[in-house]
Amino acid sequence: MQEKRAKWSGHLSFVLAAAASAIGLGNLWRFPYLAAQYGGGAFIAAYIILSLTLGFTLLVTEISIGRKSHQSQITAFTKLGGKKWAWVGIFSTIVPFLILPYYSVIGGWVVKYFVHYFLATFNCASQISDPKVYFESFISSGLTPVTYMIIFILFTFSVIMLGVKNGIEKANAVLMPLLFLTAIALSIYILFLPGAMEGVKYYLIPNFSRCDSIAKVFLGAMGQMFFSLSLAMGIMVTYGSYMLKSSSIPNAAVRIAFADTFIAVLSGFMVIPVVHAFATTAGQDPETALKAGPGLLFMSLPEIFGTFGAAGNVLALAFFTLVFFAALTSAISMSEACVAAICDYLKWSRRKAAVSFAIFTVFTGIISALSIKALDFFDSLVNSLIMPVTAIGITIFAGWFYGANKIVEEMEMNGNLFRPKRTFAVALKYFAPILVVAILISEICRALGIGGWNI
Ligand code: ALA
Repeated sequence: MQEKRAKWSGHLSFVLAAAASAIGLGNLWRFPYLAAQYGGGAFIAAYIILSLTLGFTLLVTEISIGRKSHQSQITAFTKLGGKKWAWVGIFSTIVPFLILPYYSVIGGWVVKYFVHYFLATFNCASQISDPKVYFESFISSGLTPVTYMIIFILFTFSVIMLGVKNGIEKANAVLMPLLFLTAIALSIYILFLPGAMEGVKYYLIPNFSRCDSIAKVFLGAMGQMFFSLSLAMGIMVTYGSYMLKSSSIPNAAVRIAFADTFIAVLSGFMVIPVVHAFATTAGQDPETALKAGPGLLFMSLPEIFGTFGAAGNVLALAFFTLVFFAALTSAISMSEACVAAICDYLKWSRRKAAVSFAIFTVFTGIISALSIKALDFFDSLVNSLIMPVTAIGITIFAGWFYGANKIVEEMEMNGNLFRPKRTFAVALKYFAPILVVAILISEICRALGIGGWNI
């Protein structure tokens, strides 16, 4: 039997939930190394411009579609546009269904490192002597990564089972302030470490010799922005469907984009100075060190933390606590998009949908937990193909079929005036579809290594 649709308690609960969804592994791990590779300040500037233009346009569009339809992504597009738009709903649902299992595997790795540094802080575990060997033997040990993934999934679904108000809202009210405080405290601490300023300069000063074209900087920033703002994942539509009519959608979107960018930029202040200082001292090329990709979080940083002795354990514990909170709140939002889709489409109860989907996540997650190649494959498939195609569908639906005027109408509910109507209509109809098509082409080139893409 289907239950009554949930509602957020207020405007702030919605903003907090959507920001919690946006701030995740994408901010803490992917943003710093992309910024390092795409010319520091140039990438940061491109990211901020894109978040406040394209990001804002797509955020308000997805949230409005959710609030207007009172449906999660699977049924929202058909409800507003008829059966021919069902494919956009299906694609928007496939995205979180595919991301969550491998995201939970990485979440499990974070739990493992958190547990290790917790024990090491209290002298119950020894220092990691060779982080590369430690990480590789951990991820290839079969049962252990699967167990940690299951622990992460249990955390996620215990919140989902409690519902929108009692679960998601309450968890975010505790986790998000802790996340912000830990991120600010850690970056201040790191900025005062010897040699940190060299890394800060490397991060902030635009350096075009580190990237081969400005177009690539923008395309790289756009791909990152999609993942980071949780766009085209069904999440903003689902969260929008619980939004109060009195809440201002543009106000919420600006706050979400601001919080997400703030934590992404702050992550660079945490990660880049430590990696840069360590690489310089060890006589390595900082750029190569920062190119470590996933290894940055689980190999490079533990190596650096290891050089700080006992203080390094506390620093690492604080860092992995932060990563854990960020990953958990994002995983909760992806799960909610999937569970809400099951409830809306199959009319199942929340409990039945959550339990079934948790089991599905465990089984599909096992594939990525046992094979890093499978994890990379799912990540590339979603980011390079399914997400951009979904985004194209959403912009064509909203800009050309449903109409920017109806999105504005939803934004203006209850007298919340939205002035830049014309600019918004142009952005949604022309700017957004052209840019998402460009992302699709560039992501395919990146995945296939065409045109000199090397990330
Ligand atoms: N937006 C989430 C992240 O950045 C998915 O990790």
